[in-house]
Amino acid sequence: VKTYKIAVIPGDGIGIEVMQEGIKVLNTLEKLNKDIKFIFDWYDWGCEYYLTTGKMMDDDGIEKLKSYDAILLGAVGFPGVPDHISLRDLLLKIRQEFNQYINLRPIKLLAEEDCPLKNKGVKDIDMVFVRENTEGEYAGVGGIQREGTEEELAIQTSVFTRKNTEKVMEYAFRLAKSRNKLNKVTSVTKSNALNYSMVFWDKIFKEKAEQHKDIKTETFHVDATSMYMIQRPESFDVVVASNLFGDILTDLGATLQGGLGFAAGANINPEREYPSMFEPVHGSAPEIAGKGIANPIAMIWTVKMMLDFLEHEDLGQKIMGAIEEILKDRKKLTPDLGGNGTTSEVGDMICEAIKK
Ligand code: NAD
Ligand code: IPM
Ligand code: MN
Repeated sequence: VKTYKIAVIPGDGIGIEVMQEGIKVLNTLEKLNKDIKFIFDWYDWGCEYYLTTGKMMDDDGIEKLKSYDAILLGAVGFPGVPDHISLRDLLLKIRQEFNQYINLRPIKLLAEEDCPLKNKGVKDIDMVFVRENTEGEYAGVGGIQREGTEEELAIQTSVFTRKNTEKVMEYAFRLAKSRNKLNKVTSVTKSNALNYSMVFWDKIFKEKAEQHKDIKTETFHVDATSMYMIQRPESFDVVVASNLFGDILTDLGATLQGGLGFAAGANINPEREYPSMFEPVHGSAPEIAGKGIANPIAMIWTVKMMLDFLEHEDLGQKIMGAIEEILKDRKKLTPDLGGNGTTSEVGDMICEAIKK
């Protein structure tokens, strides 16, 4: 029996609601497979925890998480705690402390009905983002100067190291090879305006392209990329982007696949020196939190990505098959997909489809 220790951080808002469904799916798989076992340790870190303790996570939180095979996270952030505190002290902290420098975000449309573009469909929307996840625009370098004076100013500096940028791009090229779709990597830049960081990014991308001559490459500015993703999504395969550009473009990508309710993600430390963290792209959605109507598919797809990472691709495939299966009965889906189903009903349907 293979036993996996999973740290579960539901977080805030709908993060808590969709996490229930992700765990439900793992429990279902465990029952069907006697050779696999999950041990879940729940951590109630998040905004409520902050309001009672003054901390987003325990002081030794990072130490506590070190021993796990993987971390599952719902979403972090809620009105009442400033976003830059809640996110910096929990989500971004884990990504950076555990050197999860790859943020893998697949964008794949499963059902024609969920496509927002006319004349495009399932065959056209299938790409994956490799988002740099520990530095870049999120490095946290900067400060406020001359506070309270008329000369007050804010500085937020990006940091791109050669080592990390090379590793991120290498990962993207290898992924393009293994996907065997267009054998192409698109690099997102803005070197026309960002004359240090993105010029550097472009230089390293060129070097990497030289080392992977069997993979086609293209480079677009981030503004043009956002247009091409709508205009001709079928031309994308693997896309490599900096932290901020990747963040923005993957919400746009989520829309291409039917909305944030579908967008899954993985924060990966490829060397496996530290645990990786699996977390949907969406946030805590305060305006629908507590209503039981959040779409749990993104979280469940995220669980699939965790199983792939733990080298149980067969189980991951079962999950994908089940998601595709339940998308046929549209009325039973959550309101974001036009149905009147609830979060837990959709989770139950996916579990039933897995058992079939
Ligand atoms: P959001 O992703 O929470 O919501 C954006 C929109 O998408 C809202 O209309 C929401 O109702 C909808 N939505 C999102 N997920 C959905 C789902 N599963 N089912 C149905 N509808 C869904 O983004 P936001 O409103 O900008 O942020 C809200 C809070 O979440 C903020 O505190 C923000 O900082 C935080 N946030 C956290 C994460 C994370 O933890 N990974 C990601 C993004 C935002
Ligand atoms: C995401 C989120 C986070 C990010 C925020 C909440 C800090 O938007 O995971 O996409 O920007 O990385
Ligand atoms: Mn985001």
